[in-house]
Amino acid sequence: MVQGASRGIGLEFVKQLLEKDKRGHVVATCRNPENSSGLDDLKTRYSDRLNILKLDVTSETTIQAAAHSVTQTYGHLNLLLNASGILSIPAVLQPETSLTKVHKSAMMLAYEVNAVGPILVIKHMWPLLKAGGGVGTTREAAVVATLSARVGSITDNHLGGWHSYRASKSALNQLTKTVSVEFARKKDPIVCILLHPGTVDTDLSRPFQKNVPQGKLFTREFCVNKLLSIIDGAKIQDNGKFFAWDGQEIPW
Ligand SMILES: NC(=O)c1ccc[n+]([C@@H]2O[C@H](COP(=O)([O-])OP(=O)(O)OC[C@H]3O[C@@H](n4cnc5c(N)ncnc54)[C@H](OP(=O)(O)O)[C@@H]3O)[C@@H](O)[C@H]2O)c1
Repeated sequence: MVQGASRGIGLEFVKQLLEKDKRGHVVATCRNPENSSGLDDLKTRYSDRLNILKLDVTSETTIQAAAHSVTQTYGHLNLLLNASGILSIPAVLQPETSLTKVHKSAMMLAYEVNAVGPILVIKHMWPLLKAGGGVGTTREAAVVATLSARVGSITDNHLGGWHSYRASKSALNQLTKTVSVEFARKKDPIVCILLHPGTVDTDLSRPFQKNVPQGKLFTREFCVNKLLSIIDGAKIQDNGKFFAWDGQEIPW
């Protein structure tokens, strides 16, 4: 399952997962399935292996409905990828350049979408992930991979700014780490990891690309290829870790 699949990195995950395994089924979820031309295109090419469901991370009823639908159709998941996220929304949320630009409503929205949302998705999909590696995979465990961002690292925060986004990703990291500890304590064979994709050419990064050094702006194809190799190689001892696109661990 790829959650947040309408566009950007999530859509590219759906594409590469469908291309990689000629038998694998992919559940792609997004807020407005009727508005994703990218998913429409993939559906015409992979009609029998792609299942598109509605899921808005700010609406727990849509998360529950998606979990119910996956239970009825497949009974299990061997990979859950959380790829949704927000950085800026015109007139609603802007990456802050100073404490004076911090607004409660923007902070709460970033926290709701970026930190709380993916955790609620993991909560409701957890019963489906209990089958370990699942059918048709050689993985020793199911994988839950959530897209975070290096700016969520408190150790790595030398620049400041982007208070809402940065803190929402730090919270996502803490919540995910906490979930991973519970999975381990319950001896549930699930590897729960956080991934930093690098700076990737998507709608999210587009307004902020001018200061990106040459060669450091990745294509979606490159980034997803790298992230899928981390996911493919994920071992039970990786549970609770935060990896960059190149496989390096990022300090909290
Ligand atoms: N691009 C980068 O350089 C970069 C760097 C570091 C980390 N990341 C992280 O990577 C992830 C993907 O980013 P991206 O670059 O692919 O961004 P993007 O192109 O802007 O796509 C964001 C996705 O999140 C979805 N989304 C937003 N709010 C949602 C909600 N309430 N419920 C469900 N889905 C929602 C969007 O759906 P709609 O189409 O419905 O809006 C869209 O599918 C994010 O977590 C981001 O923080 C990206």
